[in-house]
Amino acid sequence: MGFFITFEGVDKAGKSTQIRLLAKRFQEMGKAVLCTREPGGTPLGEEVRELVMKNRAENIADETELLLFSASRAQLLRERIWPALEEGQVVLCDRFADSTTAYQGYARGMDLAFIRQLNQFALGNRWPDLTILLDLTVEESFARLDNVLKATAADSDRFEIEGRRFHEAVRNGFLQIAKENPRRFVTFSAAKPVEELADEIWSAVSRRFL
Ligand code: TMP
Repeated sequence: MGFFITFEGVDKAGKSTQIRLLAKRFQEMGKAVLCTREPGGTPLGEEVRELVMKNRAENIADETELLLFSASRAQLLRERIWPALEEGQVVLCDRFADSTTAYQGYARGMDLAFIRQLNQFALGNRWPDLTILLDLTVEESFARLDNVLKATAADSDRFEIEGRRFHEAVRNGFLQIAKENPRRFVTFSAAKPVEELADEIWSAVSRRFL
């Protein structure tokens, strides 16, 4: 059995950069690594990603949004993550079930107990071995997002256009989930320089798995 590590945090906390750096360290040790993301990671999941993230004229009901994220997750686990773990690979996933609890639960205000049940259903009760929370203030997250939007002329997605209160609720939601799951979570300040953060993450990961 391989091991399963997820990365969580507000937008622009640097999750994908840290996943890339961690994957490189594992690969240098000769380990096979699957890097994937949510929503997405499978052909079906990538279609769901497009559906749920793109700004559209019609309103997406909160219930629909919750089910779409869960559908993408159920597929990704069965099609890619479980087979990779069976083969002994390291799986690094950019966002996972805790994002549903933070965004749809804490920020949208949907029922947390129901979300927990839905997550269990999609996960078949196989939770990640380790979750790395990259914590960042909402101010810093907004400032980084602004820079990216200016530099790339990209459009904001359905979550990026949400206001400060929504993103504060997401951040506090993640901190609360981490507090409730101290054995699974390790929290880092995402305001640190990239390489310093990568070293800290590597120490935590090697302590746990190597
Ligand atoms: P990202 O891949 O750029 O992080 O964007 C994914 C967006 O979707 C992000 O704003 C968080 C949101 N999201 C949820 O609201 N619920 C979920 O379960 C997941 C996986 C993501």
